[in-house]
Amino acid sequence: MKPETFERLTAASRHGCKFHAEVLPLYNLARESGAKVIVELGTGHGCSTASLCAAAEDIGATVYSADLNPKSGDRLPDEMKERWFNSSSWDPSLPEKMGVTEVDFLFIDTSHKAPETASELALWLPLLKVGGWAVFHDTLICRDGVTVPIEQYIARHPEFDWQWQEQVGSHKFGLGLLRKLAK
Ligand SMILES: C[S@@+](CC[C@H](N)C(=O)[O-])C[C@H]1O[C@@H](n2cnc3c(N)ncnc32)[C@H](O)[C@@H]1O
Repeated sequence: MKPETFERLTAASRHGCKFHAEVLPLYNLARESGAKVIVELGTGHGCSTASLCAAAEDIGATVYSADLNPKSGDRLPDEMKERWFNSSSWDPSLPEKMGVTEVDFLFIDTSHKAPETASELALWLPLLKVGGWAVFHDTLICRDGVTVPIEQYIARHPEFDWQWQEQVGSHKFGLGLLRKLAK
């Protein structure tokens, strides 16, 4: 990613967003996925959104993002504003509000609470395309709230051949990669 691309995409964040350790791995993963539809849950300061938007520019994808905090939307570049939703990640009406029926690349970085993670998985993983990726932040530091519900979901849904791995050497917080393989 060109640094000026990241600067442009995070200009509205007013330095709330830095080019930190997670930015490049997420950009690379999204770019290599060749996704068409990217959904982010947990916009926050917009750092991860910028990574995803930069990848989307390279591969011709569309990014949608949502956050409970109404201020998160203010931190995004203008081009993202109409694809940003002030909403709970597990609101059953959110995919329809986004106009999304299938997702190629899902990034989740929200409350890291087990019941909420379970609700997010129940809503969004059925929409993940076969071959698609779901990427989770903080899998190493929030095992109980993030990683355990993912492992439980996989165990309850053996109809797909899930591939679950921690991105090796990415950073200390953990970046978990879940791929939905063919039935
Ligand atoms: C760790 S921050 C996200 C950081 C962001 N990915 C970034 O790079 O700046 C977590 C965000 O999740 C949001 N959040 C927490 N629970 C949520 C939920 N159920 N639905 C949507 N957003 C939620 C919070 O408002 C907060 O902005």
